[in-house]
Amino acid sequence: MAIRDILILPEKKLRLISEPIRTFDKPLRALVDDMFETMYEAPGIGLAAIQIGEPLRLITIDVSKEEGVKEPRVFINPEIVWSSEEYSVYEEGCLSIPEFYEEVERPAKVRVKYVDADGKENELEADGLLATCLQHEIDHINGVLFIDHISKLKRDRVVKKFAKAAKHGVSPSLAKDKEPSHHIG
Ligand code: NI
Repeated sequence: MAIRDILILPEKKLRLISEPIRTFDKPLRALVDDMFETMYEAPGIGLAAIQIGEPLRLITIDVSKEEGVKEPRVFINPEIVWSSEEYSVYEEGCLSIPEFYEEVERPAKVRVKYVDADGKENELEADGLLATCLQHEIDHINGVLFIDHISKLKRDRVVKKFAKAAKHGVSPSLAKDKEPSHHIG
């Protein structure tokens, strides 16, 4: 097991469409272990394989709210087969866009078809935080980021900020501290 580096915006790999998984072998189990370790360490409640540079349709999730209680879930080749007409709004963040949070509106409930860690086909109907997290992570394996769901104005602003930070080789939050006001207005 190893903690892996998480790709950060504007890394181009984050826009790749991940490939379906066809073999359930030892390297896949090792990748799942790495993903959980990386996700818990971050800490985050969800992670897509592409966020650690592996363009595979694989996500890990743990939305357990109880301290010290782990509920690790693995979704292989997940696919949304039904979404509710009812929407809900949740303030999302992303490990690949650290320290940026914005409200996103998504279907409140989804039904997801997936293969579990043992290679068995499954279906799950989710609501609440799990529904939001599943949609956020399934977006990742399709090269979509949560900032694609916010206004263009806000998106352009955050993309610019991260591009600038990458260019200067600093973390985006540090860049903000160093340039407190000149880009306002
Ligand atoms: Ni994310």
